[in-house]
Amino acid sequence: MAEFTKDRKTIFSGAQPSGNLTIGNYLGALKNWQLLQDDYNCIYCVVDMHAITVRQTPAELRKRSLETLAVYMACGIDPAKVVFFIQSHVPGHTQLSWVLSCSTMFGELSRMTQFKDKSAKHADNINAGLFTYPVLMAADILLYNADLVPVGSDQKQHIELARDIAQRFNQAYSPTFTVPEGYISKSSARIMSLSDPERKMSKSDPNPQSFVSILDPKDEIIKKFKRAVTDSESIVRLDPNRPGISNLINIYCAFTSKTPEECEKEFEGRGYGDFKLAVGEACADTLTKIQDKYNTYISDKAQLDKILSEGAAQANYIANKTISKVYRKVGFYAKPEVK
Ligand code: TRP
Repeated sequence: MAEFTKDRKTIFSGAQPSGNLTIGNYLGALKNWQLLQDDYNCIYCVVDMHAITVRQTPAELRKRSLETLAVYMACGIDPAKVVFFIQSHVPGHTQLSWVLSCSTMFGELSRMTQFKDKSAKHADNINAGLFTYPVLMAADILLYNADLVPVGSDQKQHIELARDIAQRFNQAYSPTFTVPEGYISKSSARIMSLSDPERKMSKSDPNPQSFVSILDPKDEIIKKFKRAVTDSESIVRLDPNRPGISNLINIYCAFTSKTPEECEKEFEGRGYGDFKLAVGEACADTLTKIQDKYNTYISDKAQLDKILSEGAAQANYIANKTISKVYRKVGFYAKPEVK
């Protein structure tokens, strides 16, 4: 069980439950989360309540929540160092979300670009949860008084809103919440789609050729890189005007810990074919090791359940303290303890 100390800052981050996490998630987030666990009090949450803002197949969602834990552990996240739990196991998230929604303006939520994007994408299901999603996210973060929130740059606007809500609440009711900061690591690579390198790699892309999942088999990985969209030149060099090859160089460097210069030198005078194969091999090397661990973890459900149960207990302990404080500050009459 994770033991937190007062001299360390608190980190909170949330992950959508998807067994289909991609190398974009791995290189952009998971790898960093693993590094952070030694220096911070880390709380990592599988946000199943956020997930149902778009339609889910219930059996899939249930299965993926557990798989997410196993993938995270396979990527080096250690439940002995971090608190890892499922959002729906901690009622404080929705309790705080309601209170915070009364300190969030309709106009603010209307301006969220992710809401606009998702409403366009799911035009037949623009539900109120999709609209208030950022309030639940603010609640996730503020509930634990997190100092830092590691996220991708697409979540910046949501973090800004969480800060605004925290400040507004603190001003109205006296200091209560830590005002969190986004933590967008410099080293975290931004991995682009293999079929359209101008767009971010996404696990929900309908074209499976566009992303590599952490759990893809080796031959699949090699094939996907072979087919990755590049350009008609054949010089392996980082160039903002050639996003395809630049993306592959970034991926190669991230998996081999080489610099772009080293990579350019290594493949000088060799064509894209050679290079694409090398990227596939480097990626598959790392992923095969992760997959071996994943298979071990996922086959021990009792152990995963134990981790989730302990994680939820620790999270609930912190969350309940915040909820009592918040309920008192907004003027809710305390539930009488009549013996
Ligand atoms: N919205 C985040 C995403 O889609 C997931 C998330 C939910 C989150 N709650 C959070 C991230 C709290 C950081 C902190 O990636």
